Amino acid sequence: MPNAFISGTGFYVPPRRVTNDDLRTQYGIDTTHDWIVQRTGIEERRFADEGLGSADLGAEAAKNALAKAGLAPTDLDMIVFATLSPENCFPGSGVYLQQKLGLCDGPSAKFVPALDVRNQCSGFLYALGTASSMVKSGACKHVLVVGAEVHSAALDLSTRGRSVASLFGDGAGAVVVSATEEDRGIRTWKLGADGRFADVLAQRVWDIRKRPFIPTNAEGVGQVAPEMMWAQMEGKLVFKNAVERMMTVLMETCMAEGISGQDIDLFCFHQANLRINQFIQQHLGIADDKVVHNIQRYGNTTAATIPILLAEAEESGKLKRGMKVALCAFGSGFTWGAAIVDW
Ligand code: ACO
Repeated sequence: MPNAFISGTGFYVPPRRVTNDDLRTQYGIDTTHDWIVQRTGIEERRFADEGLGSADLGAEAAKNALAKAGLAPTDLDMIVFATLSPENCFPGSGVYLQQKLGLCDGPSAKFVPALDVRNQCSGFLYALGTASSMVKSGACKHVLVVGAEVHSAALDLSTRGRSVASLFGDGAGAVVVSATEEDRGIRTWKLGADGRFADVLAQRVWDIRKRPFIPTNAEGVGQVAPEMMWAQMEGKLVFKNAVERMMTVLMETCMAEGISGQDIDLFCFHQANLRINQFIQQHLGIADDKVVHNIQRYGNTTAATIPILLAEAEESGKLKRGMKVALCAFGSGFTWGAAIVDW
């Protein structure tokens, strides 16, 4: 059975910076830079321009990851795309990404499967586990895993929506998971979910149990109420569960791998709130130089946070061959996961 290793990393964030002060001055949100920094650590985020979707951002990240891996899109055997902000209800973003990578064009077209993963902030780890299994089973040699989000279009950028809108940003990260006979790669991974909390952090633009699934006015035009249109979150409950679940799944994954937290060289935590990660770091006694963050610059980019962290850490030289890396995430669902990777 081959091992599955990460052969390339890449990321892309849109160029438009939106600072905390911009939320106040450009969007009229009643907030302050200090409130957001103190509660979350976020200083600015990126917003994509209208016309761009998650597959556009994902394609840029994917091209960078493929270049790092020394592969062409036609070397891929599968695409796994994690996002909570797909272009449309259906189809998923994976098939749009496939087109954007040129995999549907000309004589070298390669109609690889494109799987969409809907596990929000844990989406990248769910996708990575899937890709790793596909490679280890021998079904695929190279699987592209993308986490990409365009949140800015679906944020209530007003004072009413400030507790959610100030948290999120747009961005994309990608890795290529490849087969190798070398003794390295994605080792133990663990995923979990607790559907009792499904409504605690959710965006319910429609309800398929209702007839019609979106309320309509007398003219038959769909009417979406603000509490349906925008994401709703019980922030304190999310915070408490994130801390508990992330610490538990991280420790369980280390134990299953037969290592302790001290054996880890680099921790890449999902970037939902700097305070969540600092709490975990302090509780587990993790040194500052073993943790990478980017929430200060990008906010919460949901499925993209971990692959962006990996790509940036590799680019800066902080992540090197031979290191033992821990990945850990928690998000809407609730869902969570962790993975140990020998780089
Ligand atoms: N600026 C100023 N005031 C604000 C803002 C803002 N941006 N946002 C909220 N407030 C106000 C609230 O309106 C409230 O005012 P009130 O007391 O007059 O009603 C007050 O600040 C306190 O609000 P809380 O929501 O109770 O603030 P809290 O201390 O819980 O912090 C936060 C909010 C930062 C969102 C925190 O709960 C948190 O980070 N939770 C975790 C979020 C998370 O991890 N999400 C990840 C998953 S995302 C995913 O999976 C898609």
